[in-house]
Amino acid sequence: MWTRERLGNLIKSKIGDRFLVVVSNREPYVHVFDGDEVKYYVPPGGLVTAIEPIMEASGGYWVAQASGEADNLVVDEKNEVGCPPENPNFTLKRVFLTKEEEAGFYYNFANAGMWPLCHVAYVRPRFDAKDYKIYKQVQEKYADAVAEIIGDKPAFVFIQDYHFANLARMLKERSRNIVTAQFWHIPWPNSEVMRILPFKDEILGDLLYNDLLAFQVQSHVINFLDSVNRFLEARVEYDTSRVIKVGRTTLVRSFPIGIDYEHVSQLSASDRIATVRKEIVKKYRLKDKVVAIGVDRIDYTKGIIERFRAVDRFLEKNPHYIGKFVFVQLGALSRMQIVAYRELNDTLNEMMVDINEKYQSSGWKPIIMVRANHSKEELTAWNGIANVSMVTSLHDGMNLVGKEFVAARNDLKGALILSEFTGAARELSDAVQVNPFFIDGLADAIKQAVEMSPDEQQRRMVRMRDVIGYQNVYRWAAKLLSEIFNFEFVEYDTEVVDN
Ligand code: G6P
Repeated sequence: MWTRERLGNLIKSKIGDRFLVVVSNREPYVHVFDGDEVKYYVPPGGLVTAIEPIMEASGGYWVAQASGEADNLVVDEKNEVGCPPENPNFTLKRVFLTKEEEAGFYYNFANAGMWPLCHVAYVRPRFDAKDYKIYKQVQEKYADAVAEIIGDKPAFVFIQDYHFANLARMLKERSRNIVTAQFWHIPWPNSEVMRILPFKDEILGDLLYNDLLAFQVQSHVINFLDSVNRFLEARVEYDTSRVIKVGRTTLVRSFPIGIDYEHVSQLSASDRIATVRKEIVKKYRLKDKVVAIGVDRIDYTKGIIERFRAVDRFLEKNPHYIGKFVFVQLGALSRMQIVAYRELNDTLNEMMVDINEKYQSSGWKPIIMVRANHSKEELTAWNGIANVSMVTSLHDGMNLVGKEFVAARNDLKGALILSEFTGAARELSDAVQVNPFFIDGLADAIKQAVEMSPDEQQRRMVRMRDVIGYQNVYRWAAKLLSEIFNFEFVEYDTEVVDN
């Protein structure tokens, strides 16, 4: 098995004296005020969930945007702070943006442009020359922050996601000693959709400054190669999955990202989580109820509207579940300055009120929404309580929510409903797979999941746990590094020697 220690050792031996720097927009720890005290929390989202354990294994630097009101109070003169805060083993370097930069870079170009463009979830992407200018200006700021750390020493910079489509070029303009890999956590759409992007030539060209460009699944790799083939002058080699442009070669590969399976599983088995589970069951009066949960940032790509509709349809079709079935949506508010997100939040409120009104009886409602940023402990406890976890994304690069549900189920109980439009669906063929656009099918999937026999739950859970335990986030990182640093990835732990 790949473990934190094994990955740590591999990084030390293969990266050698190079600086290791991860760049992402979202920071792994956010410092905030609680009264007069400064506290911190871990923000929601797949990127932080996946990358944090790797940084703990490897040490090094993580450059990310400051986003907490107390972030500036805990950093030193270089804007750096040791993390995790109570027991540091890597350095977080915070980049502070002005309000205007945050609007142009994060809200507008990245999240009202690139995000809907790549997800194709029927929200129109919006592109503006002014925002693109700021998007690039902000990346220059990040490139300066990386340069401050590494000077002209050899470095490996691991760039995360669609916030940094131009960064590889900017880094390589600053130093020749940098190797870069970029992981695109979200889907890459087909070239017909890519046509919409007004700045596609420059963006595609700048992404090709990376030595390795990686996506979650192979179809995104093909979509990317097709886009380059269609819009740029470059040699696209489909058989070796490489692009060669003005003498530079970029490997384009798929690496499905995983989770820290062991950690989640052990946490779920702890006495602490058993206590939290009891508290939750009491607080929300879930004893003797059939419980389904959804865990998401409130985002239109996640199919939460479809989930609410399906709960309504399920109760219409199966009235004997009225009073017995509860669906709990745990939703962290996200990107609320963008109109589409505010509207979604309002729509969900209205839908919840209407559906609850239709079925509720004294002391029972079919839908409970808890809008908060839940800690890992709370989420693990909820995952242990639920009979069913619902992941109904309309389109999702990977989605780690279902993987965390499975990892938490040491008891081998529970069923996962999983959209076929997530990257995770390729690995988790033992989930109840659904097309979230088809509400009747989704309602039937709820019925199938809540009525699944304990034997079948167990059979499916065992297989899914095997897959997720094996393809954990440490293996993901090791494979990616082996690709870029050109060493053989030895799968010796897959062989079972029977004496
Ligand atoms: C997705 C993106 C990440 C992002 C996360 C949370 O997983 O791929 O880059 O960090 O959503 O979104 P937020 O905008 O809150 O960082």
